[in-house]
Order: sequence, then structure tokens, then C-alpha cells
Amino acid sequence: MKSREVVQKHIEISVSNEERFQGHLVLINYQNPIRRQVQVHQLESLDSLPSIKKLNKEMLLEKQCFKQFHALLKACEGMDEIVAVSAYRTKEDQSQIYQDCLIEQGSDYTSKYVALPDHSEHQTGLAIDVGKLKSNIDFIAPSFPDTGIYKSFRQHAIQFGFILRYKQEKESITRIAYEPWHFRYVGYPHSKIMEENNLCLEEYIDFVRQYRYSEEQLTVKEKDMTIQIYYVPADKGTSSHIPILRCDFYRISGTNREGFIVTTFSKN
Ligand code: DAL
Ligand code: ZN
Repeated sequence: MKSREVVQKHIEISVSNEERFQGHLVLINYQNPIRRQVQVHQLESLDSLPSIKKLNKEMLLEKQCFKQFHALLKACEGMDEIVAVSAYRTKEDQSQIYQDCLIEQGSDYTSKYVALPDHSEHQTGLAIDVGKLKSNIDFIAPSFPDTGIYKSFRQHAIQFGFILRYKQEKESITRIAYEPWHFRYVGYPHSKIMEENNLCLEEYIDFVRQYRYSEEQLTVKEKDMTIQIYYVPADKGTSSHIPILRCDFYRISGTNREGFIVTTFSKN
């Protein structure tokens, strides 16, 4: 995966340091709260694609996440058997869910399966809970088996930029129990690198911090595309200069921590 590349400076762009708090790779967990609310124009209603089965009306997802979720459902032929249980939540939604769960299930269960308000990925529009379509779907912990179409969804997820966010063996890091129903959009190839190296998002952000623009980048070679990934620490002050390697197109995401992750794509 790693390789040394001759670095040739292409462009340098200036971004506000506020941008550290948004993007597909933001880390939201018990230590890193939401610092910037997702904007309404970044969200799309699941109603725009009626073939998707929904548990509730008025479900929203971040636009790219939504597009890829739809493509994933099509790829695994899960449109008729998989239901979208919970997508974007406001802070008020998350508070209500937390309070209700506390009353109905107690504090041990709640702290395992429900993040505190402002500590939930659902507030970014980048997380989707999916369930097996049946009567009596559990909103907090929907059933999502590891067989058949559900297994196929899980296997295809990586290729569409999703990760299973809360794995059993990462519980001590995420502080959330195993959630086979909660998928998080991070974008491809980040999803693939995480899966292949068994890294949860917390570990992946630390991993990418080793790769820099002026040193070595994390390089993924695909059949027709070379993708390079590197970390750029934020400058002091209100904005940062982000150097971009020569490429066909690029993406910048904040980490919701100290810096940015740049992903460049070049056709071979
Ligand atoms: N169920 C996840 C942890 C949430 O509440 O965001
Ligand atoms: Zn969830």
C-alpha cells in the first residue's frame, strides 16, 4: 500500500480552520463532540427515492452518503428486504432518544447503544441504521443478521464508502457496543483501507497522521486510478494552507480534530 512518490507541488488552497469540523471523515465520539452543525442544503430526503424502504417519514441523509446508500442497496439487491431505520438526527432528536431509552432500558443499556447529544454521528447525516424488514422493528437495536442479503449489504458496503462503525473488538476504543446495524459513510477508499487493516475510525485518523504531503503519502493503486491520502495539520490562526498534489480531482475533509485529510485521485 505504501510507496514513495516524487512530490511535485500542484496548488495550495486556503481554507477556514472551521472546515476542520466538517467532511466525510469527521470523528464524532465520546471525546470529540460535533463542533459544526450540518447545513440543511447538505441533506437530502430519502423520499426522493421512493424505492428505499423507511421506518419513518422525514428521513434525511447527507447528499453523498444518500447517493451511495442507494447504490449500495441496489448492488446487494436489498431494496425490498432492508429498511432504513434511523438516519439524520437533530440534537433534540438525540436528546429525546437518549431520555426515552434511559427510562425504558436503564443506564447501562443506554450508554452502550445511544451516544450523548452532540456525540452522535447521526447528527452529521453520515450515519444510517438499517434493519431487516419485518413487523416490530426495534428502533435502537434493529435486527440485521449476518446472512443472506444482509451479509451481502455488509460485504458491498466498503466499495460504496461505508464502514461498520461499531465492531465488537473495538468497543474499548469507541465506547459503543457492537452495532451490526449502524453504517457510517467515510468515502472510498478510506472504507477499504480501514477494513483491510482492521482499523476503526479513531485508529484510522491516527494512522493517516503519519502520511504527509512533503514526505510519504498513503497510496492506493487501483486498476485505472491512483489515490493518495495525506494529513495536513491546521495552521495557527483562522485559516490553513492546504497543499494539493498534482491530480485529476481531490477531496478535503476535516477530522473534527487538529487537521485535515486530503485525498487525491489520478487516472492512470
Ligand atoms: N447508536 C449510536 C451510537 C448513536 O446513538 O449515535
Ligand atoms: Zn446508528
